[in-house]
Amino acid sequence: MKNKYKQVILLLIFSSYSYASGNLSISIETAIKFNTICAKCHEGECSGRLSFDDNPKIAFSHINRYIPNSSKTQAKELFTILKHMKKQCVIFFPNIYLNNKTSWFEKELIQYSLSSRKSYFIPLGLLEKGIYKLKINTNKLQLYTIMIISKNFEIVLDEYSTSCKNVNNLSYIVNDSKEYYLRIESRNKLIIKSINNSIGK
Ligand code: HEC
Repeated sequence: MKNKYKQVILLLIFSSYSYASGNLSISIETAIKFNTICAKCHEGECSGRLSFDDNPKIAFSHINRYIPNSSKTQAKELFTILKHMKKQCVIFFPNIYLNNKTSWFEKELIQYSLSSRKSYFIPLGLLEKGIYKLKINTNKLQLYTIMIISKNFEIVLDEYSTSCKNVNNLSYIVNDSKEYYLRIESRNKLIIKSINNSIGK
């Protein structure tokens, strides 16, 4: 037990150090977990302060409550993302995934989802101003929620799937050109066949 406590302290010291160096090398898997599971309570917190800084044991057990059996590396990464979010007041996502795509298919969507396939967090890239059409195609009729959020936490779309078909057609307006993300959440496993996000003409 004592040993574990020591390890957690080391872990947190190390995470502060790597944060200070500005080198955020965080796996996409952890970024997805943070932006779906932890975001439920922590999204948009921009206080710049961490209240558990002086009690790493509580922070570690808190993280494990929401992501059971989280590895030390992952707990460290989650902690780093939370700090980044609080200080910079932006959503964190690994840079290499921030390209401007307009279509995604089942296979590539897997990397943007939890292994349970209940939640997805997909980077839509830098969107210019305009009216957008979003089309989500699932393998069967299922209820799920759809949210599009900017990197600074402005929500431009927040809906339930309503269509009686496997395809949901939605639209939303972008007034500020910046990076946006699509979050999809379902109570049960959700297989998304394809997503299309394109600016209307
Ligand atoms: C059901 C809500 C909820 C979820 C989900 C949740 N937290 Fe928290 N978390 C809290 C509350 C409440 C606090 C204490 C108040 C505060 O400081 O925000 C807290 C505090 C923390 C702290 C202490 C630092 C701080 O911000 O004060 C860390 C670190 C933390 N959470 C990380 C996580 C991570 C990582 C996840 C995802 C695995 C997560 N939390 C999921 C509610 C939640």
